[in-house]
Amino acid sequence: MNRQAPGWGAGRYEVTAEQLLPAARAIVDRAAPAAGERVVDVGTGTGNAALLAAERGARVIGVDPAPRLLAVARERAAAAGLDAEFALGDGANLPLPDGEADLTLSVFGVIFAGDPAAAAAEMARVTALSGRIVIGAWIPEGAIRASITMARDAVLHALGAPPAPPQFAWHDTDALAALFGHVGFGSVRIVEERLAFTAASAAAHVDGDAQNHPLSVAGRALLEHRGEYQAVRDRMVAILDAANEDPGAFPITSRYVIATLTVA
Ligand SMILES: C[S@@+](CC[C@H](N)C(=O)[O-])C[C@H]1O[C@@H](n2cnc3c(N)ncnc32)[C@H](O)[C@@H]1O
Repeated sequence: MNRQAPGWGAGRYEVTAEQLLPAARAIVDRAAPAAGERVVDVGTGTGNAALLAAERGARVIGVDPAPRLLAVARERAAAAGLDAEFALGDGANLPLPDGEADLTLSVFGVIFAGDPAAAAAEMARVTALSGRIVIGAWIPEGAIRASITMARDAVLHALGAPPAPPQFAWHDTDALAALFGHVGFGSVRIVEERLAFTAASAAAHVDGDAQNHPLSVAGRALLEHRGEYQAVRDRMVAILDAANEDPGAFPITSRYVIATLTVA
């Protein structure tokens, strides 16, 4: 299991999930699960995509390594009267039989897998050969990405850790075709989408994430302990302020892709 995964239970990811809900909608719309289809949602978190698929009558299992988020997902399903299962598991070790899914989804989830090749192999293994794998992944650009990368680098520096290795290009057609081609799902179609993050101000966005987003919560705790948080927080705000699309409020748009992989 990914060593960092239990950290996703920290903070209140529920709040971040609300911000990401329009993207989950776009990705589920693109994947178009039909009633009765078997759907697996990898890195389901609090169940955004899983519940949207269940609303369409699909038979859904959401998988995530964070028990607290799964508990929230189960509560949401019960509150909405939706039939969906949720199981503890990692993208690289899915607790499911071969060919279990007509559709394997991941909305900004599998992109956190420590071993992309292992996660791709697992997603392919659980997907029927007639099925599809649909992944939402950020395009690594823009102010939100720049501010997060700066903060991550500050955390690594504080830990005395080496710089982060380059991340797998989950947004890139050729990279996905190579990764999934090895496991039989080498046909890739990509569409680009946009998601606007909104808040009262750039500072409100950064401070909200520091309270809610699990990775920001962990980074803030570490940097606060060393007396370095305020400076990093102010640099994040400055990066976002410089890119603010409406000085009267705070929208910043991030681009992401929806990749659909099928057997060639
Ligand atoms: C940004 S959240 C996205 C959650 C959800 N899909 C959504 O749209 O709100 C990332 C999710 O990936 C999960 N995750 C982290 N590492 C993972 C891994 N190795 N395999 C599968 N999921 C993972 C986290 O627990 C978290 O729920």
